[in-house]
Amino acid sequence: MIILGIETSCDDTGAAIYAADQGLLAHSLYSQTALHRAYGGVVPELAARDHIQKLLPVVAQVLRDAGVKRADGVAYTAGPGLAGALLVGASVAQGLARAWGVPAMGVHHLEGHLLAPMLEAEPPDYPFLALLVSGGHTLLADVRGLGDYSILGQSLDDAVGEAFDKVAKLLDLGYPGGPQVAVAALKGQGGRFKFPRPMVDRPGLDFSFSGLKTYTLNTAQGHTLNPQTIADIAYAFQEAAVDTLVIKCRRAWQQTQHRRLVVAGGVAANAFLRQRLDAASAAEGVRLYYPRAEFCTDNGAMIAYAGSCRLQAGATQAGGFSIQPRWSLETLQVP
Ligand code: KG4
Ligand code: ZN
Repeated sequence: MIILGIETSCDDTGAAIYAADQGLLAHSLYSQTALHRAYGGVVPELAARDHIQKLLPVVAQVLRDAGVKRADGVAYTAGPGLAGALLVGASVAQGLARAWGVPAMGVHHLEGHLLAPMLEAEPPDYPFLALLVSGGHTLLADVRGLGDYSILGQSLDDAVGEAFDKVAKLLDLGYPGGPQVAVAALKGQGGRFKFPRPMVDRPGLDFSFSGLKTYTLNTAQGHTLNPQTIADIAYAFQEAAVDTLVIKCRRAWQQTQHRRLVVAGGVAANAFLRQRLDAASAAEGVRLYYPRAEFCTDNGAMIAYAGSCRLQAGATQAGGFSIQPRWSLETLQVP
């Protein structure tokens, strides 16, 4: 069974072809970063219009690269995400599925992220603990199997990726921010600034990043921002954000029996987070699983994979345009 996957939930136009018996055959991504840079953030209407222009060429390319003319099913991100952007992917997916006479399958974007490590050479077995860290979400989830998820903790305010993006903006590091903060921090001196680790003194597995963002803003406003000070602030922010994530993972290992941790979402590409998690997990006998860097951020491959699993498990979806801009992971069902 060959599945076409389509991702258009935000500012990346992604498509991929996944074959149940051969794995990933092709994937392609068009990033809208240049389009949104002038505005310092994603402009929803522009994102939707650009998906309209780029999606069909990206789909045509993956079909060509995979050497196939059609697929046996079309998976698309049905939510959560920007409504207009989601509608473009849903429309194209439903149109292709009707033309080919095959099923269309709406996929939860976060389920795609959670399952992205399954595309790697040594995928984790179920069950596992998942740390999902992206621009829109920060959560720890108990993953018992496909469609069987419980959220153990999540951010009460900003997502960690969003905090990285906002800190990049206030330090004038450019757009998109997360990777720029990581690069600036490489030249930073640890120890010059000590930022708070939010919520670690409270029990539970929830997160909060808006206080850390404000603390970073106040520190930046209290100093002359020369390149070294910018690097030192970027370092202190990144270290505090990463430490907070690691502390909560350690707590989750202690509270659950999980000895496998999947780390997914855009911030999972952060090298400093990987270093600190590697060290902490080794000490606790926990094995870590990451998607390759290009499948940490939004992509079509994770949607093709999740859709393939659902269709193979016999899941069906009524026709029509079903998108859910707001959609909890916990409402998903085992197919
Ligand atoms: O998963 P993703 O592509 O989109 C969402 O579903 O939100 O994640 C994008 C987020 C952005 O906030 C971006 O700044 C952040 O991931 N990000 C990073 C890094 N690469 C991407 N944050 C920190 N360090 C990185 N290397
Ligand atoms: Zn995402």
